[in-house]
Amino acid sequence: MLAALKKRRAIRNFLPQPVEREKIEKLLEAATYAPNDRMREPWHFYILQGESLKNYEQVALSYLQERFPTKPNLVQSSMEAITNTPLIIVVTSSIVEGDEGATKDNTFAVSSAIMSMWLMAEELGLGMVWRTRGVGLVHDTALHAFIGASENEQLVGTLCIGYPEEWITNEKKRTPFLEKTTWL
Ligand SMILES: Cc1cc2nc3c(=O)[nH]c(=O)nc-3n(C[C@H](O)[C@H](O)[C@H](O)COP(=O)(O)O)c2cc1C
Repeated sequence: MLAALKKRRAIRNFLPQPVEREKIEKLLEAATYAPNDRMREPWHFYILQGESLKNYEQVALSYLQERFPTKPNLVQSSMEAITNTPLIIVVTSSIVEGDEGATKDNTFAVSSAIMSMWLMAEELGLGMVWRTRGVGLVHDTALHAFIGASENEQLVGTLCIGYPEEWITNEKKRTPFLEKTTWL
């Protein structure tokens, strides 16, 4: 398990090859086994490929052009995160009205589900990155509206997935756990 966790990396560059439906279903199945408070199973997945992904490109492009009107190069390079990705899965978490604690717990559960998808992806030979910022559009309203999510859902992750152009194998330096731990 530790070896698998150490091997997992954010992969951002993909081959144009599409991801098979069977593999997408395996990712979704893996997600649904995540721990979750009171079995609320608070996740929902929106699959974007082909035409729907092309439409998302337009949403992201409008967002970036509005945000960076004087930086066309930045807009273009940021767009590559989507245009070079064959599959995007947007994951939402349910909001429990009037219960902030439960709503937070739902986000924690959905985060666990995304981690399961990340590990599953690697086993299937797929690379993945969880995006929130920029074209990830998690902290904006445009993607929420585009996928048709309800008022009771909040976005947690925009997962860019595909066959990697290359695997990242260098070890990412981590702070030793002792520096992050207080033994009481
Ligand atoms: C909640 C969350 C949000 C992230 N958002 C972005 C993002 O918007 N863009 C991006 O390129 N990577 C994003 N990442 C990926 C991180 O940058 C990456 O996991 C980190 O650099 C560690 O690298 P590793 O995953 O290869 O170990 C995000 C990761 C998490 C967990």
